[in-house]
Amino acid sequence: MKTCIFYGSSTGVTEGIANRVSKLLSCNILKCSEIEKAKDYDLVILATSTWGDGDLQGDWDNALDKMKNVDLNGKKIALIGIGDQDGYADTFVNGIKTLHDVAKNKGATLIGTTSTNGYSFSDSTAIENGMFLGLVIDKNNQSDLTDDRIKNWIDSLQ
Ligand SMILES: Cc1cc2nc3c(=O)[nH]c(=O)nc-3n(C[C@H](O)[C@H](O)[C@H](O)COP(=O)(O)O)c2cc1C
Repeated sequence: MKTCIFYGSSTGVTEGIANRVSKLLSCNILKCSEIEKAKDYDLVILATSTWGDGDLQGDWDNALDKMKNVDLNGKKIALIGIGDQDGYADTFVNGIKTLHDVAKNKGATLIGTTSTNGYSFSDSTAIENGMFLGLVIDKNNQSDLTDDRIKNWIDSLQ
């Protein structure tokens, strides 16, 4: 399956995770500003951190507008959300919900939801049917769990 990760990252955390996933999947990786290239892939992985009060990472602001013009019918999407469950417990990884809603509206089918077990937060919009909408990484508080979370997620995608 032709796969590409599109990411937005302010301090490099999401970029680092996206790079690791791309190496393990042997897939392409691009900044989200190139989201129009999603049309060339079968599996489109969207990665963002959450900023402000549950907002998308800033690079996604323009990219999201661009994505609204990309036909994602017949494509699979998977999401990677980076956040801080301790510092921002009420808006934990909300950013991937925003990406999810646009991608779904453009016809994509979501894969790669994950269990919320092992995280501790009070609220997140990134949960559907009791599952996170994608891979959720918290480097601030659970850095030691990152490797296993990435590995398990990749296994579930494949
Ligand atoms: C001002 C500020 C606001 C943040 N807001 C949220 C938030 O609402 N939800 C969340 O899960 N994480 C939030 N975070 C945590 C970041 O998402 C986290 O630090 C992440 O690792 C940054 O990744 P990046 O370097 O790829 O942008 C916030 C961090 C800062 C400094």
